[in-house]
Amino acid sequence: MKRSLIYLLSAGGLLANGAFAQKVTIPVETAHNAVVLQVSDKNDLVQSYFGEKLNATGDYAQITAGRTSDYTGLYRSAYTPSGSRNLLEPAISIQHADGNQSLDLQYVSHKVDKPSADITITSIQLKDPVYNVQVTLFYKAYLKDDVIEQWSVIRHQEKGEITLQKFASANLNLHGKTYWLRQYHGDWAKEMRPEETQITHGIKTLDSKLGTRANLLMPSMFMVSLNKPATEDEGQVMMAALEWSGNFRTDLELDPEDNLRIMSGINNYASAYKLKPNVDFTTPAFVYTFSNTGKGTASRNLHNWARNYKLMDGKGERLTLLNNWESTYFDFNEQKLFELLKDTKALGVDMFLLDDGWFANKYPRNDDHAGLGDWEENRKKLPNGIASIAREADKDGVKFGIWIEPEMVNPKSALYSKHPDWVIKQPKRDEYYFRNQLVLDLSNPAVQDFVFNVVDSLFIKDPKMAYIKWDCNAVIYNAYSAHLKKDQSQLYVDYVKGLYSVLQRIRKKYPSVPMMLCSGGGGRVDYGALQYFTEFWPSDNTDPLERIYMQWEYSYFYPAITSSNHVTDWGKQPLKYRTDVAMMGKLGFDIVVSKLSPQDLQFAKDAVVNYNAVKSVIWHGDQYRLSDPQTDPVASIMYVDTNKSSAVMFNYLVSSRYDAGPRARTTMKGLNPAKKYTVKEINLYPGTQSSVKAEGTYSGDFLMKIGIDPVIESGRSSVILKIDEAR
Ligand code: DGJ
Repeated sequence: MKRSLIYLLSAGGLLANGAFAQKVTIPVETAHNAVVLQVSDKNDLVQSYFGEKLNATGDYAQITAGRTSDYTGLYRSAYTPSGSRNLLEPAISIQHADGNQSLDLQYVSHKVDKPSADITITSIQLKDPVYNVQVTLFYKAYLKDDVIEQWSVIRHQEKGEITLQKFASANLNLHGKTYWLRQYHGDWAKEMRPEETQITHGIKTLDSKLGTRANLLMPSMFMVSLNKPATEDEGQVMMAALEWSGNFRTDLELDPEDNLRIMSGINNYASAYKLKPNVDFTTPAFVYTFSNTGKGTASRNLHNWARNYKLMDGKGERLTLLNNWESTYFDFNEQKLFELLKDTKALGVDMFLLDDGWFANKYPRNDDHAGLGDWEENRKKLPNGIASIAREADKDGVKFGIWIEPEMVNPKSALYSKHPDWVIKQPKRDEYYFRNQLVLDLSNPAVQDFVFNVVDSLFIKDPKMAYIKWDCNAVIYNAYSAHLKKDQSQLYVDYVKGLYSVLQRIRKKYPSVPMMLCSGGGGRVDYGALQYFTEFWPSDNTDPLERIYMQWEYSYFYPAITSSNHVTDWGKQPLKYRTDVAMMGKLGFDIVVSKLSPQDLQFAKDAVVNYNAVKSVIWHGDQYRLSDPQTDPVASIMYVDTNKSSAVMFNYLVSSRYDAGPRARTTMKGLNPAKKYTVKEINLYPGTQSSVKAEGTYSGDFLMKIGIDPVIESGRSSVILKIDEAR
């Protein structure tokens, strides 16, 4: 098939094969699945199918609506308008320039572009027959990874502004006997708690109205299984999320005919958006995948897609690090940091990461009540600036990275005194703080410049700056922008657009520096932001037992390479358990290295060496979940490289019941049945020996059908096995 445009159609027009069509059928196919759009007799665009694709593309044209009691013809609308025939939850709702609130969207034409062998972009033009409003629906299909990104572009030529009252990115229709929603909620240190329930009639809404760090109470990720809850290897399941770092809203409506309608996009809460004539309003992408073989396949689809196409440097390397947050908090000086640089070297990790507390003079940043916004080095703690730390790091042969929280300000800061109008707050109401701070108004271009310069100036001070930890700790209370004046309802949207514009500038100038997307609670993460960030901070809760569950749930949506996991003093488990759990992602340490016992220090150093030997498989390999901590006393996860020649398997005891642990061997997944492998326990604590009986070689077939006993028991609560093809 030719690159770029492959065909263009309009209503009742000529099909690619030359036949005249009564009805236009538009299949959007990936390697295994299809979303099919059709134009109805009334010229409405409906979505007639979602699921496993057919062998012959032409067969989709035979899909009919079937028996229906849909009075409107819009239950299955591909982008449901409001104010005309439709009375279900709309995808789009607008007020025209003349105040009228009705919208009807009729099919005009569509085209399919093929920008590469693996991607198609189907765009479908719709327009209102009465008002001059057009909507283009985009379906970007990533064929190999079975992933689709969907978004819409809204435009008009009315005389004056129209107001967008709801503007979803996507509107999908699923058909099953029953629907099972797995959703997440949480709070600080309690992120990614799953709930799985059957969806009943009416509307279930997942949303956030927090403005910044939108995930604190609920992230936008969710999954829906058809007919019964999907398991790891069985069942039909869709996994989805909105690529947007602000307020989101997903409505799941079980319609009168028992179809599940899903509308997802920017939350329209307090966000009516004015649109001038001939200006595009582009909604963020809603990304989803579908699997007929359970959650494992769906999550691997998303991992591959993210690493291939979305995540910043998805196929690249990451830095191991020593962070000083939990070992010093705000209490450090140059000398202490020099010692930490030596510890970084001794531990064998790549980089030292200097956390909060290094800046501000008028209101020194000695706790979280003051200084945020004043990004010059604190003269007492760093009399010679960060350049001196950077020089010392260079001498020690380690890299140097730094923490910032550039979107925020403490009222006790020079920045606040100088630019009170840069701060989001109500002019006539008392200020209300989250962690003693307020949010800067990123809808204001002057604030965007300021935030860009915070980052830019770090590279001026230390051109070799190796890493940025970008924190974000406050939600938006008292939403009001001095900059937006009468357009207050645009603040939530324009904030995120402003943030993205800053991140684009940063990436233009500093395309490769790794950056961590951090938020003390809720794990600020979404694929809108991960275009600019290499990794994210899942939670301040680093108790390894808690992390096993959290990392497990995050891993359905985000590959291990994105997950910053630090070994800290949280939790009661021994250092080995804490380190083994942190290894299932991007390993870092945040402990007082100088206070480790000689054995613990030896273990930690060995662990870094062991991690370096397996990290590529964890970051770039395929993830398989073997034993689920929600139902089993042991959590087992393995990562297999794409050649199926090496793998690593993590096993953790999660139950403290008497004699808990698996009685049976654990069977592996993802290996080549025909290959022979060796199995070896790694990351043993100094002075201990492996109890795993795995001598000689085993076929992949054996390991996947009969398996190996990792011998998990209370004295061996965490076991890592390295599996290598025998040569
Ligand atoms: C919240 C982050 O999650 C922590 O790791 C640390 O950077 C603090 N903020 C610093 O204030």
